[in-house]
Amino acid sequence: MMFKNRLARTALLAAIGIIIGGLFGYIQYRNQPAGETQQQPKPILNVAGVGGPFTLTDQTGQVVTDKDLDGKYSLIYFGFTFCPAICPTELQKMTMALNELGPDADKIQPIFITVDPERDTQKVMASYVTLFHPRLMGLTGSEDQIAQVKKSYKVYAAKVPPTEGNAADEYLVDHTSFIYFMGPDKNGKHALLALFRTEDSAQVMIEAIKPLLN
Ligand code: NI
Repeated sequence: MMFKNRLARTALLAAIGIIIGGLFGYIQYRNQPAGETQQQPKPILNVAGVGGPFTLTDQTGQVVTDKDLDGKYSLIYFGFTFCPAICPTELQKMTMALNELGPDADKIQPIFITVDPERDTQKVMASYVTLFHPRLMGLTGSEDQIAQVKKSYKVYAAKVPPTEGNAADEYLVDHTSFIYFMGPDKNGKHALLALFRTEDSAQVMIEAIKPLLN
C-alpha cells in the first residue's frame, strides 16, 4: 500500500513540477524583448525577487547565512531526505552537472536545504549529503528558519499526513522542485542567475551555467 501511495505521490509531484515549470517558462517567454524569436525553449529562467536573508545550520553544526554566499556561485535544491524519488534524482543531476563542469565546478557550492526540519536534523543531513557529492552542504534549521528561507526562495512545501497503516513519522512532503543557480549580481549580492526544472537535463544545466561563470 505504501509503495503504491508513494508512486502516486511521485507522479503527482512530477505533474506539479511540470505545470509550475511551464508557468515560469511562460513568464520568461513573455518577458522576451519584442522582435527576438525563440528557436527553442530556454532553460535559463530569470525570476526577480528570488533569494534573500536566511540563517541555517550545516551538517557539521556550522551556522550558514546568505552573507556567506555573497560573491560566490551556488546550486541550491530544496527537498527532504525521506523523499522517495524526485529529490534523489535532482541531487544526482546536480552532481552530474558538477562532474561534467570539471575544474569550473570548484567555483560552485552545491547546497541541499531541507523543507522537513522535523526529521532532517543535522545528523540525518550529514549522512544524506555524502550520498551525492563530497562538497554538498546540507542545511537545516528551526521551523521558523526553514519557513523564512522557503519564503525567500518562493518554495512551496506541505506535509502530507501519513496514510492508514503508516507510522506518524512516515509522512511525505509535497514540494516544488527547482535547482537554483545563484551567483553574484552586479552589486556582488547572492542572486538568482538561472532556474532549472525537473525536465532540464544535466547537459542543459552545464550549457546554461558555463557562460555565467567568470
Ligand atoms: Ni522530494
